[in-house]
Amino acid sequence: SVIRAGSYSEELVKTAKTIASPGRGILAIDESNATCGKRLASIGLDNTEVNRQAYRQLLLTTPGLGQYISGSILFEETLFQSTTDGKTMVDCLREQNIVPGIKVDKGLVPLPGSNNESWCQGLDGLASRSAEYYKQGARFAKWRTVVSIPCGPSALAVKEAAWGLARYAAISQDNGLVPIVEPEILLDGDHSIDTTLDVAERVWAEVFYYLAENNVMFEGILLKPSMVTPGADHKEKADPETIAKYTLTMLKRRVPPAVPGIMFLSGGQSEMEATLNLHAMNQSPNPWHVSFSYARALQNSVLKAWQGRPENVEAAQKALLARAKANSLAQLGKYSA
Ligand code: 13P
Repeated sequence: SVIRAGSYSEELVKTAKTIASPGRGILAIDESNATCGKRLASIGLDNTEVNRQAYRQLLLTTPGLGQYISGSILFEETLFQSTTDGKTMVDCLREQNIVPGIKVDKGLVPLPGSNNESWCQGLDGLASRSAEYYKQGARFAKWRTVVSIPCGPSALAVKEAAWGLARYAAISQDNGLVPIVEPEILLDGDHSIDTTLDVAERVWAEVFYYLAENNVMFEGILLKPSMVTPGADHKEKADPETIAKYTLTMLKRRVPPAVPGIMFLSGGQSEMEATLNLHAMNQSPNPWHVSFSYARALQNSVLKAWQGRPENVEAAQKALLARAKANSLAQLGKYSA
């Protein structure tokens, strides 16, 4: 077979293709309880399970969402949670033909021996957790590790990030979950876009080296890269055409066409920037499905519209649909402001 043997091979390829389908992308709502608490605090709400449930229920029951969203990444609490009417969140997604996903990493901790950098925990017990998540309905997974440009990045931090992602990817595929491979290169710093390009090329070279060494099947993964931009504090801003040019150059140099989908993170870009940059990236044909897996750039205006009030739920859902539609058009290269 042209595809590596393994009990889930065909299903993995199918899942990845479904997620990377034209005009659709990923709604990332996999904030840990601590991060979700920060989002709720921004509209004056306490970080309780009931409030997190109300918020995620609002998002996942948005009528028409499945037209623009092909997958949604959940935090463990949400994967096992039901709405206030007793329907599982997983069923809410399935009804709209949206594939449920799960964040499986256990977060970042300091990396001893590095330049104040971090590494990502979560490999211990990952196989059995992944099997449980599959049983619960998850069909893809996410592991986010970070690389910091102002801190180096050191060779050690890049190697650790790449190795962790590759081990996670192999374990996910072994348990039927399509791994989203996410080495986030943080926006922090005053470096130029050329520096970001250098670092991104270095990181992705190493990630693909270890993915191959771990016999990961490239047809059954998805990537979640940062766009190649100048550092947030750099003196000059880059326009969407420049960002698209640099980002596609990096991807074409480093990512094999066997990979079905590139699902960008928003990384602190505004909602509009994230949409315009994605649109610019889709102005010419490229070897993959180039789309979005945004958290903040899909949720900022939803939170603002909601304010934690039941009477605002409809307006908040409209705000989500508007962002999802804009990014769907950007995926097709057809967005206009
Ligand atoms: P942002 O789009 O807010 O950067 O989220 C990234 C992420 O990894 C969420 O799954």
